[in-house]
Amino acid sequence: METCNSSNLRAKKLTEYTKNMLILGIETSCDETAAAVVKDGTQILSNVVASQIKLHAKTGGVVPEVAAREHVVKIVPVIAEALRKAKTTLSEIDAIAVTAGPGLLSSLLIGVNAAMTLAAVHKKPLIPVNHVEGHIYANWLSQTIAPKFPIVTLTVSGGHNDLVLLRSHCNYKVLGSTLDDAAGEAFDKVARLIGLGYPGGPEIQKAALKGDPNKYPLPRAWVTDWDFSFSGLKTAVLYLMKKLHKTPHLQAVSYKLQADIAASFQEAVCEVLATKLVNAAIKFKAKEAHLAGGVSANSRLREWTKKLLPPEIRLKFCENISLCTDNAAMIAAVGYFKYRQNPKKYKKWQSIIADPNLVLH
Ligand code: KG4
Ligand code: ZN
Repeated sequence: METCNSSNLRAKKLTEYTKNMLILGIETSCDETAAAVVKDGTQILSNVVASQIKLHAKTGGVVPEVAAREHVVKIVPVIAEALRKAKTTLSEIDAIAVTAGPGLLSSLLIGVNAAMTLAAVHKKPLIPVNHVEGHIYANWLSQTIAPKFPIVTLTVSGGHNDLVLLRSHCNYKVLGSTLDDAAGEAFDKVARLIGLGYPGGPEIQKAALKGDPNKYPLPRAWVTDWDFSFSGLKTAVLYLMKKLHKTPHLQAVSYKLQADIAASFQEAVCEVLATKLVNAAIKFKAKEAHLAGGVSANSRLREWTKKLLPPEIRLKFCENISLCTDNAAMIAAVGYFKYRQNPKKYKKWQSIIADPNLVLH
């Protein structure tokens, strides 16, 4: 049995061990080449993202091989810039954290191999991180008050859509996920359908400002308590366009119609996302409800959540939009909390497998 004294001693040692700890984070799971240096899991010293948005805007979505080639070009300069901006060097870095999945395999491999090489050459502990837990931990970055458990986090991005209960650090219970498309994917596809650019989320949000959210009553997919489904909504927009006799991909669509569809679609997505997050936070007696991932940048989603959440549950999201979308600071933050829990687990050199289907557990 562990005594109070021994556990205090251990906690003290751990704090000493991890004070002023610098983690280099590396993220290449999709179309952003990113590296960051974070101190003690919360303080961002640098956060560099080389975005490929312009490259993929031409095709209206990410072409995996194009993304991977661009990561190869950018990975070394991006890591060098992250170290330079943080005014540090690899010798001063305590550990390296890298996204191991989920994501595009060809993209993940670039970051994973870069991290493994640096860890081997510079003899640094190497920490594999799940991209979704990265988004969850973005809410620990640059916060004046540390989050309090239990927490329910809704991570909503282009590639994932999960409702997760955290009772303590790195302890995840996935309550529900999407049964088909993620919300961000639906934003991107619907934007394309009504003639807006890529990525669709910010474009729809902008167009929706001038539209009527009640103009077209689109379906809300409640499915199960905690799961999500957005493919039916996407199809409903397609049928609506057909009914209105507009060809998809749409020069012919007026700004007014675009704005009304964008607003109606955004309303349908945000109502469902916010309701499920709030219901889960109440049900699991959470102290805080968090929004994370690219779609958490959406101001209507933030408004819906604020409106529905009881005042005793604190709402958190990243005010800084660049921490909602893919970045490496969030990967470094997870790296810190994982390492702090079990430093011996992360060897100076270890092989990490890039897994496109990595699940959170
Ligand atoms: O987290 P993220 O950067 O990458 C993935 O892990 O997928 O999320 C990207 C997604 C895209 O689908 C994009 O359209 C969406 O986040 N997004 C938004 C907004 N900003 C980005 N969706 C709705 N409203 C926004 N303001
Ligand atoms: Zn992401």
